[in-house]
Amino acid sequence: MRKNGLDGSRRRFTSTVALVTSSYAGTSNVMSAEWSLRVSLDPYLVAVFVGYERGSYGLISSSGEFGLNYCSDDQVQLSHIAGRHSISNGEDKWKMADFITFSGTVIGAPLIDGCIMNLECRVIDEFTTGDHAEFVGEVVNAYYDEEKKPLVYHGGEYFGLGEHLRKPGR
Ligand SMILES: Cc1cc2nc3c(=O)[nH]c(=O)nc-3n(C[C@H](O)[C@H](O)[C@H](O)COP(=O)(O)O)c2cc1C
Repeated sequence: MRKNGLDGSRRRFTSTVALVTSSYAGTSNVMSAEWSLRVSLDPYLVAVFVGYERGSYGLISSSGEFGLNYCSDDQVQLSHIAGRHSISNGEDKWKMADFITFSGTVIGAPLIDGCIMNLECRVIDEFTTGDHAEFVGEVVNAYYDEEKKPLVYHGGEYFGLGEHLRKPGR
């Protein structure tokens, strides 16, 4: 049944969940982000939207780079920890869950093992988009795992991908 209302509509979006990694001057961090997307094919550009109050904001703007690690459906706990705790409160999220990291070849921020995709991104632009900073990143290196399934976020809850709905005529 159709309802009318701004507040209710805010909870109807469906998104991926990325673990945004950052590193600057010997400090690295990880935060969850449901707001990220590809914004250009060639050049290969992505955008991630980070609240100014996030500890990650300062690390990304200072270093000019970030990692976008798209969660698989077995990484709910990692997303929960990365999204509910903050480096700004002195919390070391790396010690709070079983984050297994590996190094990329271009950026200094660590990448997270077990994701469906890891993107190494260099910031090429930053905009103010409402109450968040929009970092546009050029993807300079990427890893992916075809056997992993994405984690889905909807209405403040985690889900798996669901069934494959075939296109008509196939
Ligand atoms: C599933 C999920 C998605 C989130 N998406 C975003 C997002 O897109 N942008 C953002 O700024 N914060 C988002 N957050 C909140 C941050 O992850 C959270 O404020 C985190 O504590 C920031 O960490 P930091 O201060 O250590 O950088 C999300 C949280 C969760 C749990």
